[in-house]
Amino acid sequence: RRLAIGIDIGGTKVAGGIVDESGAILERVRFDTPHRSTSPRVVENTIVGAVEELLGRADPADIVAVGIGAAGFVAEDRATVVFAPHLSWRNEPLRHALSQRISLPITVDNDANAAAWAEACFGAARGESHVVVITLGTGIGGALIIDGQVQRGRHGIAGEFGHMQVVPGGVRCECGNRGCWEQYASGNALVREARAMIEAGSPVVADLLTRLGGDPAALTGPFITEAAHDGDPTARELLADIGEWLGIGMANLAAAFDPGLFVIGGGVSAADEMLIGPARDAFRRQLTGRGYRPEASIVRAVLGSDAGLIGAAELARSGR
Ligand code: BGC
Ligand code: NA
Ligand code: ZN
Repeated sequence: RRLAIGIDIGGTKVAGGIVDESGAILERVRFDTPHRSTSPRVVENTIVGAVEELLGRADPADIVAVGIGAAGFVAEDRATVVFAPHLSWRNEPLRHALSQRISLPITVDNDANAAAWAEACFGAARGESHVVVITLGTGIGGALIIDGQVQRGRHGIAGEFGHMQVVPGGVRCECGNRGCWEQYASGNALVREARAMIEAGSPVVADLLTRLGGDPAALTGPFITEAAHDGDPTARELLADIGEWLGIGMANLAAAFDPGLFVIGGGVSAADEMLIGPARDAFRRQLTGRGYRPEASIVRAVLGSDAGLIGAAELARSGR
């Protein structure tokens, strides 16, 4: 057997797993991501802990490599995290640091690139030549696949779609700019908007607040999605707003890349058509040359929020 460990380090969760050749997850672990004010060493400890725990659950002889999908700008050396808006990494030699403590080959890639690779190998992007993958979590991750290859740009950092400016002078972003797309169409944006409604004392959030047991601090993205699934109109409206921003950004990406397919993944994609329906509508309304140009399809990621760890493992297993 040639199994690999994949570790997906997102803004809020570290998800790890042992993955087989077909992309199936055999074992999994999950931890909270250390806050970005803690030292990179703490994140490193979390990764090493996850790998050790997984190794303990398998025959170590079966595990051939460890792949890391990191929520940040990974340099062309596929070893250094240059910058991470939601984490403590600044020019962090992640692969080097980990290889001191893990005696298996290690590969590092951007988390959204890893997710895209999983969807290309085992999921919604199989057999498609031109694909844009968007992951909606704490931030927005992006990846571009052309002719079956993830495009990494000159310095390794292509696909940072979450930091395209969609609102001049808009909401401040952890990256240092204002008005970034991920401030409007991510899980963070969803929670921020819900909180703003609660703070405004709007009667329309009364049901949502009751559901929360009256504690606005308990509000999370998954909570809103669950409420929306149960038919809460405010939760649905909040998701539709996120979806609309998603569609606007995708129309810009279509103008730039002309993909045949958009794949929407990450935690927020659990909202499915409540998110993707409004996204499709906004996309069609915003598309340049609409009515005259072929339209890309927009689908939900098949592997959901597991895509990152599955892709990281597969990149490592295949030495890519
Ligand atoms: C980061 C990306 C990452 C994405 C999703 C963005 O804020 O800049 O590198 O892929 O969040 O985690
Ligand atoms: Na990317
Ligand atoms: Zn930004």
